[in-house]
Amino acid sequence: RQRLAVLISGRGSNMQVLAEACEREAWPAEFVGVISNRPAAAGLAWAAARGLPSFALDHTAHPSREAFDAVLAETLDALRPDWVLLAGYMRILTPGFVARFAGRMINIHPSLLPAFPGLHTHRRALEAGTVWAGCTVHEVTAELDHGPLLGQAAVPLRPDDDEDRLAARVLRAEHRLYPELIGRLLRGGLVREQAADGRVHYAVRDGRPRGF
Ligand code: GAR
Repeated sequence: RQRLAVLISGRGSNMQVLAEACEREAWPAEFVGVISNRPAAAGLAWAAARGLPSFALDHTAHPSREAFDAVLAETLDALRPDWVLLAGYMRILTPGFVARFAGRMINIHPSLLPAFPGLHTHRRALEAGTVWAGCTVHEVTAELDHGPLLGQAAVPLRPDDDEDRLAARVLRAEHRLYPELIGRLLRGGLVREQAADGRVHYAVRDGRPRGF
C-alpha cells in the first residue's frame, strides 16, 4: 500500500474527494497524514473527524519560509509518504523542500497550465477572454506551477460568468480530475518516466485519456 500525505491550507475539498475515492475505489493506498499550515483550516477538522491523522503546523509561528519548510519536511519524513499531494496548499515551497520530495509531489492548479500560473487564475481567464478555463494536475518542481503534467480538464467560459461562478465550475472539474489521475497513478495506469536527459513525463498505460 502506497502512503499518501496531503497538504492543505483551507477548505480542503480536493483532499476530501481524494480521501473518499481512496476508500470507495479501494486504492492500493492509505492516507498517512493531512497537514495544514493553517490550524483553523476547515479541511483539517474534516480530516480529523474522519479519523485521518491530521497535523496543524502554523506557518506564522516560524521566522522564515525556510524554518517553516524544515518543520514541514520533518513532519512529512516521519510519515514516510510515497506521494505528497498538494490540495489547495497556498504557500510557496522553498527549493530545498521541493528537492527533498522531488518526483513524488503532485499539485492541482485551477487553470490550464502553462496559462495563468500563480494566483487569481479565474479573474485572469475572464479578463483575457479565453474560451476555455480549467484545471491541471502536475508534478511539483522548483519553478512555480511549471512541472510535468499528469492531466488536464477544460471548462467553458460562459457569457454571464463572474469569478465565483467560474471558480465553482472549475472546482467541480477538479473534483473529478484529481482523484481520477491519482487513482490511475497508484494503480500503474499512469506512470512517471524519466528520460536519459532528465526530462520527466507521465505515460498512459491504461489507454485512457489524460483529461476531459
Ligand atoms: C482549488 O481550486 C485549487 O485548485 C486551488 O485552490 C483551491 C483549493 O480548494 N489551488 C491553488 O490555487 C494552488 N495554487 P480546496 O481547499 O477546497 O481543495
